[in-house]
Amino acid sequence: MTANSQVARVLLFLAVGLLIVGIGRTSFGEALQQAAPSAQTANPQPASLPPANATSATSKYVGADTCKTCHEEIYKSWEKTPHWKTTQNKEPSHQGCEGCHGPGADHVAGGGDKTKIFVFENHSRQQTSARCLTCHGEGREQSHFAESAHASSDVGCLDCHSPHHAKESQHLLVQSQPQLCYGCHISAKADFAKPFHHRVNEGLIQCNDCHNPHGTGLIRQVRALPSGDFVCYKCHVDKQGPFVYEHVPVKTEGCSSCHTPHGSTNPRLLKVSLVNMLCLQCHTFPTQGPIGPAHNQSAKYQACTMCHSQIHGSNFSSVFFK
Ligand code: HEC
Ligand code: HEC
Ligand code: HEC
Ligand code: HEC
Ligand code: HEC
Ligand code: HEC
Ligand code: HEC
Ligand code: HEC
Ligand code: HEC
Ligand code: HEC
Repeated sequence: MTANSQVARVLLFLAVGLLIVGIGRTSFGEALQQAAPSAQTANPQPASLPPANATSATSKYVGADTCKTCHEEIYKSWEKTPHWKTTQNKEPSHQGCEGCHGPGADHVAGGGDKTKIFVFENHSRQQTSARCLTCHGEGREQSHFAESAHASSDVGCLDCHSPHHAKESQHLLVQSQPQLCYGCHISAKADFAKPFHHRVNEGLIQCNDCHNPHGTGLIRQVRALPSGDFVCYKCHVDKQGPFVYEHVPVKTEGCSSCHTPHGSTNPRLLKVSLVNMLCLQCHTFPTQGPIGPAHNQSAKYQACTMCHSQIHGSNFSSVFFK
């Protein structure tokens, strides 16, 4: 009896002991698994850590000089791009090659193991763009990228930029404007080939004078002036006013209510070929006129702007004569 119960007690003890060890192991294992990825993605705010901790937490980073030992050619051309500035960043996760390719210690230890480093071409556009945006996000030209027509149509940074193989060194573009844009925007290409056009092909102005390819938060990715006004006023200052007598649609509907901004077969980039037809989209034939009771449709009256010449607004005439 006693012997039996002693055996039972020993067995119970062992069982409980094993159970505890078991629990200990599982939770440790889980902790390890949790720790591993957070150690890699580490340092959102390493600046707040004391230097000693920072070094141990970032030991996965080897520095650009180490990359150079095996990738000398790439290093040398990269050094001449604006990204050399990242070598001055104190934060290892934002520094040099590893600012984009992630920590390289395992890649180096593996003698160049490609599976142990961030290789851009193996990732989706969303993932690669997100990586670029770790430095180019908030408060910059690219801050609206996530809501842009480009991002929502799966166009990513690398469709237009290349850090190592840029054809156009300014802004690291894969191709210069406007050809870069025409590659995907065939109808814009056709518009700028029309007889009356903003001289984009001639190099006088560029797509990005009016658009921000990274999105603006406004429709058609059109830029606005810091004041919030139409981008057109940047160059056509005389149209801005304010005028004593405003022509209402200029301010309310904008320039595109009468003009096609890219190009047109009509002089002055007008949407329709006959000025009177443009005006009559909004006006009925007025009852008053210069010589009596009514304007009429004779050729003489067709060029409405012959008399209503200050069509964008006037300080002197409520019907825009001068
Ligand atoms: C600004 C982010 C960025 C930085 C910084 C950067 N790379 Fe890259 N790397 C890329 C991208 C993106 C690619 C894909 C090819 C391309 O678009 O240029 C790439 C491709 C590569 C390739 C593949 C081969 C090739 O020529 O495309 C190697 C190797 C490479 N990088 C090494 C490096 C080294 C070494 C450094 C530091 C000297 C470095 N990278 C710095 C973004 C970066
Ligand atoms: C010990 C030499 C060595 C060092 C140091 C080294 N690499 Fe590599 N790396 C290689 C080799 C070799 C390959 C090619 C592997 C292959 O093609 O399978 C490679 C491939 C790569 C690739 C993928 C290229 C591709 O074909 O897509 C990238 C990106 C890369 N290295 C970045 C880096 C970065 C960033 C560093 C510094 C953190 C670095 N390497 C340091 C040897 C090295
Ligand atoms: C549809 C093409 C296109 C896409 C997509 C694109 N860019 Fe650009 N980017 C340009 C053009 C064109 C310029 C030069 C004109 C300008 O400044 O707008 C430029 C300029 C820049 C500049 C320098 C201007 C500045 O001071 O900010 C940076 C940085 C930049 N892009 C980063 C990015 C990043 C990061 C992404 C992805 C989130 C990206 N771009 C996506 C076309 C593009
Ligand atoms: C680690 C931070 C960091 C990352 C990640 C990063 N960049 Fe940059 N980038 C910079 C810095 C710093 C500059 C230098 C100009 C400046 O100070 O704004 C720069 C400049 C640029 C320019 C402007 C070039 C010019 O001529 O004005 C472009 C374009 C650009 N980066 C694109 C990219 C793209 C595309 C990616 C992703 C593949 C990327 N960057 C990832 C830090 C970064
Ligand atoms: C890789 C292809 C590609 C390139 C290169 C490209 N775009 Fe786009 N762009 C698109 C797609 C796809 C859309 C969304 C669908 C659409 O509206 O055509 C878009 C949308 C736009 C829009 C908004 C249109 C709308 O209806 O809201 C503008 C503006 C624009 N792009 C301007 C540019 C400019 C400027 C450049 C050159 C700096 C450029 N794009 C380069 C593919 C591209
Ligand atoms: C003079 C300013 C200006 C220039 C330069 C300009 N755009 Fe536009 N673009 C606009 C405006 C404004 C709209 C919106 C028109 C509307 O909503 O009726 C627009 C609309 C677009 C659209 C939307 C579809 C469409 O055709 O209406 C695309 C795509 C586009 N532009 C691409 C480009 C490209 C590519 C370039 C350079 C080759 C370019 N734009 C140059 C002002 C400009
Ligand atoms: C970056 C400067 C710039 C911006 C921004 C700009 N334009 Fe222009 N625009 C010009 C120049 C320069 C001309 C002179 C025509 C030429 O010789 O190419 C012109 C010509 C025109 C003309 C035709 C004038 C004529 O005599 O035939 C119209 C209409 C016009 N712009 C409307 C607009 C509208 C609408 C916008 C906004 C969507 C706009 N512009 C934005 C620079 C600009
Ligand atoms: C209600 C229609 C209408 C609106 C809205 C409008 N325009 Fe015009 N615009 C015209 C007409 C019509 C002409 C041709 C005048 C002529 O033939 O003498 C013209 C001519 C022009 C010209 C060339 C001649 C000149 O006066 O310099 C420019 C540049 C121009 N517009 C820019 C703009 C800009 C910028 C806006 C937006 C702020 C705008 N327009 C809004 C109707 C309009
Ligand atoms: C997009 C619509 C639109 C177009 C196109 C347009 N207008 Fe207007 N116009 C208006 C509106 C709205 C008013 C203010 C109406 C009102 O107060 O009765 C106005 C006011 C006027 C006035 C001031 C007289 C008044 O009744 O206050 C004149 C003159 C005028 N327009 C002439 C023209 C001429 C000439 C054209 C063609 C070059 C033209 N408009 C094109 C919308 C337009
Ligand atoms: C020969 C010169 C001349 C031409 C051409 C002309 N107008 Fe007028 N328009 C006038 C005069 C004069 C008035 C009356 C001004 C006043 O009441 O002080 C006027 C008044 C107007 C008014 C304001 C009427 C109202 O009821 O208050 C509008 C709108 C107008 N014109 C539109 C047009 C349109 C649209 C065209 C082209 C189809 C046109 N005009 C062509 C001389 C002209």
